[in-house]
Amino acid sequence: MDPILRENAFLGETHIVTGAAQGIGFAVAQGLARHGAQVAMVDLDASRLEEARAKIEQAAVTPLVVPANVTSEEDVTRAVGQVLEASGCINGIVNVAGITRDTRITKKSYADFNLVLATHLGGTFLFTREVAVQHWHPLFKANGNEPLDDGVNRFIVNFSSVSARNGNVGQVDYTAAKGGIEAVTRTTAREFSGYRVRVNAVAPGPVNTPMLAGVGEAGIEAMRRSTLLGKVAEPAELAAAVVGLACPMISGYMTGQILAVNGGMYMA
Ligand SMILES: NC(=O)c1ccc[n+]([C@@H]2O[C@H](COP(=O)([O-])OP(=O)(O)OC[C@H]3O[C@@H](n4cnc5c(N)ncnc54)[C@H](O)[C@@H]3O)[C@@H](O)[C@H]2O)c1
Repeated sequence: MDPILRENAFLGETHIVTGAAQGIGFAVAQGLARHGAQVAMVDLDASRLEEARAKIEQAAVTPLVVPANVTSEEDVTRAVGQVLEASGCINGIVNVAGITRDTRITKKSYADFNLVLATHLGGTFLFTREVAVQHWHPLFKANGNEPLDDGVNRFIVNFSSVSARNGNVGQVDYTAAKGGIEAVTRTTAREFSGYRVRVNAVAPGPVNTPMLAGVGEAGIEAMRRSTLLGKVAEPAELAAAVVGLACPMISGYMTGQILAVNGGMYMA
């Protein structure tokens, strides 16, 4: 990604990105690293993360590789501790990790339903809680429980989907998780206002990633046609939106909001 902000706008900051081994999460990690952040790349397995890190070019600070399963409390607690130990601070979390188990309600197993919820919604909750418990809340307490007006950039970007609002056949679990993430975004914005954390979400339309490939050619073509811009987004276009939500010069007065990046597929 070419820089879209001033050179090294995030230098000195640490940003956690989940689901960073491929797709949107990888593009986000690349985009934030390109702007000078120390990025902690979280995903399921270490070797895929190492390969992903090797593909990140022109990063002022080499990204950290933090293998973790976002559905595991133990993993997330360890991962956040590891990032804090390595960098001393966490400025932002981008909760991207996700899966699909698409099939109609009549055929959907309860195990798959729960796994999809645990990955999207549970993973978002766990990283949000752990960074607050281990880092932001202690800072707030040390400040006499007064708002952290210290000028430090703090943000969370969660990942919803156009299908949270529009519904989607085969995705009862996924749409429930994404609707939940939108609600979690608003509640977290309220609870973390004293930490001065801006909490927002991105709701993408179709994006050219391995997850979308799972839908098949005909499905992708139907989605492309249902956008006003007549195309599927590239991951870098989502990364650009995240860079904007991470940057206080662009989104300093935004919190509790859901940013639709869907090519006009759906208008709220
Ligand atoms: N691609 C799209 O069209 C689209 C549209 C709307 C929303 N989204 C959302 O964007 C986000 C990224 O999607 P993508 O298309 O890049 O997906 P992807 O499948 O290409 O990548 C997802 C990444 O998350 C990781 N992951 C999955 N489960 C995990 C777990 N338990 N712990 C840690 N990592 C885990 C995977 O290993 C993978 O690297 C998801 O939240 C998805 O729901 C995608």
